[in-house]
Amino acid sequence: MLDLALLDFLFTSKVQVLEMTQPAIETRALTRKFGNTVAVRDLSLRVRRGEVFALLGPNGAGKTTTVRMLSCLIRPSAGTALVAGNDIIQDALKIREVVGLLPENPGLYPELSAYYTLDFYAKLYGVPASERKRRIRDLLELLGIWERRNEPVGRFSRGMQQKVAIARALVHDPEVLFLDEPTASLAPESAKVVREFIRKLRRKGRTILLCTHNLHEAEQLCDRVAILKTSLLTVGSPTELEREFGTQRVEIQLKRITARILQAVRRIGGVRKVKRGKRTLTVEVDDSSEVNPRIASAIVKAGGKIVWMKQASSLEEAYLKVVEST
Ligand SMILES: Nc1ncnc2c1ncn2[C@@H]1O[C@H](COP(=O)(O)OP(=O)(O)OP(=O)(O)O)[C@@H](O)[C@H]1O
Ligand SMILES: [Mg+2]
Repeated sequence: MLDLALLDFLFTSKVQVLEMTQPAIETRALTRKFGNTVAVRDLSLRVRRGEVFALLGPNGAGKTTTVRMLSCLIRPSAGTALVAGNDIIQDALKIREVVGLLPENPGLYPELSAYYTLDFYAKLYGVPASERKRRIRDLLELLGIWERRNEPVGRFSRGMQQKVAIARALVHDPEVLFLDEPTASLAPESAKVVREFIRKLRRKGRTILLCTHNLHEAEQLCDRVAILKTSLLTVGSPTELEREFGTQRVEIQLKRITARILQAVRRIGGVRKVKRGKRTLTVEVDDSSEVNPRIASAIVKAGGKIVWMKQASSLEEAYLKVVEST
């Protein structure tokens, strides 16, 4: 006998699987020219749902232009893209509803207060009145500008305006978020709050495309990064790019370095090079997740005392290699 409940379950679960596997952002040969200048050429990318994905690249590489096309502020000269399943040309209105955008320049109305600005956009996005107040208060408190909520934003510092623009991008709890250099003008403690936001949104399954020049930030936050220089140069997780283009390096501070310790470290499989400082060893390794634990135990076995061990950031090295080779 036909089990209708089972059929129904299979059907709906298939639909869900399709939805889950559909990328949050997909660009196909996306191109944008300004007069004779090609800002973005033939960009084909897929950003998965729930991913934090960074666009990296030199000044003028086309990062902002890409974000502006994807958030329907400008049209591509050629190619197409889908954002949350919507076509950037045909479904521009729908895209504006489901995405949040932090543009490169905050673009706020200077005479409006921070609170009014957010209330205005929240209404525009259809956030119910019952939620508006709470959301605005939460965002402004977290960003540390609640006390200044009634002042016109034109009087705010650059960083404070950036915070209002970040709150505006988040006020309707969008499914896909475009952040163009979110921490660029923020003081370290505020940049930390914004990075925490990004992590929290990721845990909620939101998709985030972010442009940044801060490679350490990209390494800490992102599942994958794309390196762009008008055309796409490479895509991968920070670890994949480091493995392919960079050197993995670990720094170890010891109480004392002895010949026995040095010898023990040099003998470990996967150790490429060991450089000795006064109390620091810099060790180049093939694969830090495999080799670092071996290094630690070899040092301890050889009678060494580790004060700290630090994985040196090598996304920067990989990035420079990729960008400079073109
Ligand atoms: N409105 C415009 N009119 C003319 N040219 C433009 C316009 N917007 C961007 N461009 C050009 O497109 C190219 C890409 O610029 P874009 O702003 O996308 O770079 P970016 O990667 O965001 O750089 P940055 O890291 O400096 O923010 C540059 O050559 C820029 O001069
Ligand atoms: Mg830019």
